[in-house]
Amino acid sequence: MNVLVLGSGGREHAICWKLAQSTHITQLYVAPGNAGTSQVAINLDIQAEDFKAIKKAVIEHQITMVVVGPEGPLVKGIVDFFKGDKALASVGIVGPDMKGAQLEGSKDFAKKFMIKYSIPTASYASFTTKTVEEGKAFLKTLKAPYVLKADGLAAGKGVLIIDHLKEAESALEDMLCNAKFGEAGATVVIEEFLKGIECSVFVLTDGHSYKILPEAKDYKRIGVGDKGPNTGGMGAISPVPFCTPEFLDKVENRIIIPTIKGLRNEGIDYKGFIFIGLMKVGNEPYVIEYNCRMGDPETEVVIPRIKSDLLNLMEGVVTETLSECDLHVDERTASTVVCVSEGYPDAYEKGKEVKGLHRVEDAIVFHSGTKKTSTKIVTNGGRVFAITAFGHSIREATERSFGGAESIEYAGKYFREDIGKDLLLLEEKMKA
Ligand code: AMP
Ligand code: GLY
Repeated sequence: MNVLVLGSGGREHAICWKLAQSTHITQLYVAPGNAGTSQVAINLDIQAEDFKAIKKAVIEHQITMVVVGPEGPLVKGIVDFFKGDKALASVGIVGPDMKGAQLEGSKDFAKKFMIKYSIPTASYASFTTKTVEEGKAFLKTLKAPYVLKADGLAAGKGVLIIDHLKEAESALEDMLCNAKFGEAGATVVIEEFLKGIECSVFVLTDGHSYKILPEAKDYKRIGVGDKGPNTGGMGAISPVPFCTPEFLDKVENRIIIPTIKGLRNEGIDYKGFIFIGLMKVGNEPYVIEYNCRMGDPETEVVIPRIKSDLLNLMEGVVTETLSECDLHVDERTASTVVCVSEGYPDAYEKGKEVKGLHRVEDAIVFHSGTKKTSTKIVTNGGRVFAITAFGHSIREATERSFGGAESIEYAGKYFREDIGKDLLLLEEKMKA
C-alpha cells in the first residue's frame, strides 16, 4: 500500500517512523516533511494545505491512504475535498471532515457540544461584537483569573488567562472590536477557571468503535519551572503517573464514550484522532479543549509506545473495522525533550548547521524544523528536534532524552532541563 502523510513536524516524523515499520507499506510519502522524514519516506515538495497539488500526487503515486497530521487541512476541509472528488473518493483518509474538525476549529462549537452531551467542562458563555457589554457584565460574575478564548484557530495563542477584571475587560474589547486575533476572535468564549493538573488523552476512532491511546503530559511554556510564554510544547511524558486506572475510567465513561456517541448523533462521521486536553480537578476530569489531530510533541511519546502495527490501525479506521484491530502498548515510560531555536517562541533565525546527530545514543531523534541542503542538515523552524527515549522510570527515560539533546549541536540550541521533573517525586511515591 502507498501511503501519504501530510505535515512537516516532529509529529509527522514520528508517524512516518512508525508507519515505515509496517509490513503492509509499499511506499511511504510525506508532504512536505523535513530532513528526518526523508530517512523513512519520500518527501514531496507540497504544502499540507495545497489540496490541488495533493490530489495530483495521490493520483501520480497511486496512494490509497492519507494520514493528515496538522489541524489546518482538516479545518479547511481536506476530507470533504477527497470525498467529493471522483478520483479521490476511494482513497482512505485518516482525519475528520470539516464538521468534525470544528471540535478544534471552533471553541464555541466544542463548548456547545460538551454541554449538550453532558461532558464535564468549565462553565462558559460566548460573545461577539454585538454583545461586548454583556461579555463585560459576564466577566463581573466570575472570580479571577479570567479565561478568554478566541473561537477560531489562532496557532495556539488564542487563550488568555488574566488576573485582573479591568485587564480582562479590555482584552475582550481588543479581541471583539480591534480584531486582536483577526477572524478567529470574532467570537470569544469566556469560561470559568479550573484549578488542577493538566494531561492529555488520545483516542483513535472509526466513528463507531474507538481505541484509547497512551496518555501524555505536555510541557507548554518556554522556561524551566513552566515559566514564560507558551510554546507549541517543549517536551512530553507518557504514561502520566497521576492518570490512575480509576481516573482513566472516568475519562472513558464521562468523556470518551459520550464524545463518540455525540459525534454520531450530530451526523458527524468522525474517522481519525481526537486529542482531549484535560484538567484533573481533585480526582475529576474536565475537558479543557478538543483537538482534531494528535499533539506535538505528545505524538513523539505516544506513537513509540504503540507496539501494534500503526498502518493496521489506520486501515481499521478507514474501513470501520477498528474494533478488530489489536492495540498493544509498551509498559515503559517514554519521554521527549524538544530542542528549539534561540528566540523561540518569538522571532528566531533559521539555517543553522546541525552537527552531532550520530552521537545520540539510546534515544530516537525526531526532526521538527530541519531541512536538508546538498551537504548538511540545517535548522528550519522554532522547534528543531524532539529527542525521545524509553526507561523503566521517568528519571531513566528523561536522562536519556537529555543526553541525546546534549549531543546535538547547532548555534542557539535550547531545551528545558526540567521535563518530567514535577512527576518524578509522584512516580517514586506511587512505586514505593
Ligand atoms: P487551550 O488552547 O484551550 O488548550 O488552552 C491553553 C491553555 O490554557 C491550556 O492548556 C490550559 O493551561 C489553559 N486553560 C484553558 N482553559 C482553562 C480553564 N478553563 N481553566 C484553567 N486553565 C485553562
Ligand atoms: N502540544 C500541544 C498541541 O499539539 O496542541
